[in-house]
Amino acid sequence: MAILNILLYPDARLHKVAEPVKVFDESLKRLVSDMAQTMYAAPGIGLAASQVDVHKQVIVVDVSERRDSLVVLVNPEILDASGNSDIEEGCLSVPGIYHTIERAERLKVRAFDRNGNAFTLESQGLLAVCIQHEMDHLRGKVFIEHLSQLKRQRIRARIAKQLRQSA
Ligand code: NI
Repeated sequence: MAILNILLYPDARLHKVAEPVKVFDESLKRLVSDMAQTMYAAPGIGLAASQVDVHKQVIVVDVSERRDSLVVLVNPEILDASGNSDIEEGCLSVPGIYHTIERAERLKVRAFDRNGNAFTLESQGLLAVCIQHEMDHLRGKVFIEHLSQLKRQRIRARIAKQLRQSA
């Protein structure tokens, strides 16, 4: 296992659209293990392959307090979404920035596990929001891109300032 390098906004590679996984082989299993280890080490509650510069439709999520409920979604598709949620979100690719985004409260997805077995998952609340956030990454969208142009400009200015201070 290995800890992978997480791309930081505004890295243009975060805007690549991920391809569906076609082959469920050892390299996919290694990617999933490395992504899980990277997410736990960060620590974070979700990570999309796009964030580690692998442009395949793979997501890992764990919203449990005990960090023992890993959810792996390969080629996830939304079957149903309902309700409104407004949980504050953060992102390992946008450190230090937290914002509330309008999301569905309940979500039903179809996906494959790392072995290629299809399953459906029903979720709500934080898990549902986290899955929507990670699925956005697979489409090349970072959560702050749901915000207005003005708010995004302010965030970009803050990030630039943080970078200058840490340089
Ligand atoms: Ni994120």
